[in-house]
Amino acid sequence: MKFFIDTADIEEIRDLATTGMLDGVTTNPSLIAKSGRDFFEVLKDICAVVDGPVSAEVTALDAEGMIREGKTVAKLADNIVVKAPLTWDGLRACRALSSEGIKVNVTLCFSANQALLAAKAGATYISPFVGRLDDVNIDGMELIEDIRTIYDNYDLLQTEILVASIRSPNHVKDAALIGADVVTIPPSVLRQLADHPLTTKGLDAFMADWKKTGQKIPS
Ligand code: E4P
Repeated sequence: MKFFIDTADIEEIRDLATTGMLDGVTTNPSLIAKSGRDFFEVLKDICAVVDGPVSAEVTALDAEGMIREGKTVAKLADNIVVKAPLTWDGLRACRALSSEGIKVNVTLCFSANQALLAAKAGATYISPFVGRLDDVNIDGMELIEDIRTIYDNYDLLQTEILVASIRSPNHVKDAALIGADVVTIPPSVLRQLADHPLTTKGLDAFMADWKKTGQKIPS
């Protein structure tokens, strides 16, 4: 399963890239606003740090506008993926951009039929938002299971399931159990994945015992 990081914070991206765990980045207009930076500048910086796919969202609401914006954004770097919303205009734009070889991540997906449409429109990624579904008392992971089943029913559907709106380490584990292709994870949740109280406790005990030996490993 690929790990994308869900942020436009370049310092977080630089730091987490050193782990070797980062396969890509997703941004959205809210994350760009949170960064307080210019859209093009921040995306150029991210693409300079990360070789994998970097999603940049268009903001036009009509298909023609999305196609124009998508082409502009795609010129920023070879690894840019144009992000478009799951509306009929977004699907039209997805079809047009995909047929020109531009990768598209269709975002704001909340149903299996929406995911089916995105795949038929040639999306490289579909982004179902599990956390926002959980927020309204609908099981987000059930949607991931449904999409996995549907996509696996048809060899022609090559769209990757990119689980978005991740809120906890359990979301990551559940997405992996279902066989999602990608998870996009907020930096704080990604850091939590390595944490376990028994790891901390065990390491503290090992270090205390090692100190008693008075030995050092030369480095
Ligand atoms: C990523 O592509 C999405 O925009 C993001 O995961 C949404 O997350 P949120 O629901 O926590 O805002």
